[in-house]
Amino acid sequence: MLAGALPYLRCPHCGAALHAAGSAIRCEAGHSFDVARQGYVDLMPPGRRPAGDTAEMVAARAAFLGAGHYEAIAEAVAAEAAGGDGCVVEVGAGTGHYVERAAAGRVAIALDTSRYALRRAARAGLAAVGCDAWRALPVRDGVASAVLCVFAPRHADELRRILAPGGRLVVVTPTPRHLAELVSSLELVTVDARKPQRLARALGEPDREQLVEERLELSREDVRALIAMGPSARHVDADAVARAAETTLSVRVAVYGR
Ligand SMILES: C[S@@+](CC[C@H](N)C(=O)[O-])C[C@H]1O[C@@H](n2cnc3c(N)ncnc32)[C@H](O)[C@@H]1O
Ligand SMILES: [Zn+2]
Repeated sequence: MLAGALPYLRCPHCGAALHAAGSAIRCEAGHSFDVARQGYVDLMPPGRRPAGDTAEMVAARAAFLGAGHYEAIAEAVAAEAAGGDGCVVEVGAGTGHYVERAAAGRVAIALDTSRYALRRAARAGLAAVGCDAWRALPVRDGVASAVLCVFAPRHADELRRILAPGGRLVVVTPTPRHLAELVSSLELVTVDARKPQRLARALGEPDREQLVEERLELSREDVRALIAMGPSARHVDADAVARAAETTLSVRVAVYGR
């Protein structure tokens, strides 16, 4: 699936166009990037690679999303991202769950730093590209009719740069109510309450936003996956504390134009 994405990507070293060259991808200036056996390509800028999600976190996320609990988020994101041509890019895409649903015939590009996430996204048939979301993205200016950022790092200037005129940037963030019952009863790492203000400062006012909120009934296995896929994975023994629970899904879906 990488071939279809090449017209939208650029060399992380010099910004030149990319083309396929056997099992590698090359820029006009001769920088070369191997396509991994699993089908993704790293277009990481020189320097330290951010860690990203571990194999266990990615597997837990795939299981939790596969069970359909965040379907309401996927639907809202796909509806907001609809229309236009070119490509749809998700930054910090993980398994690529949201961009796969939102692409609707357009080229779907999943950006992440985690090799485990990139493998999954490539296996799902997406153009999976390794990069650092906090630095210049390996995507050309103004090519994405939609850019998605779901529970992921947001580098406002870069998200806007890759957005096509008339395109939409769709940003999903948790509200303080998100999973609140689980957070307090299991002492999970809490949502940063200052996030909305920080987001507003970086991106300005959204053109519109909606609250997606519903009750979730989770099995013990769902709760185990939820802990294992998130920031609590390193602090909490998911197997020891997981139990069936009812909780609240509560996220803000904000849409910004260019
Ligand atoms: C909370 S997960 C969300 C994944 C996906 N958007 C979803 O909601 O299913 C955050 C993702 O961002 C990735 N990530 C973290 N830091 C990153 C960075 N600096 N550059 C690129 N990806 C990063 C992680 O590897 C992980 O897949
Ligand atoms: Zn180059």
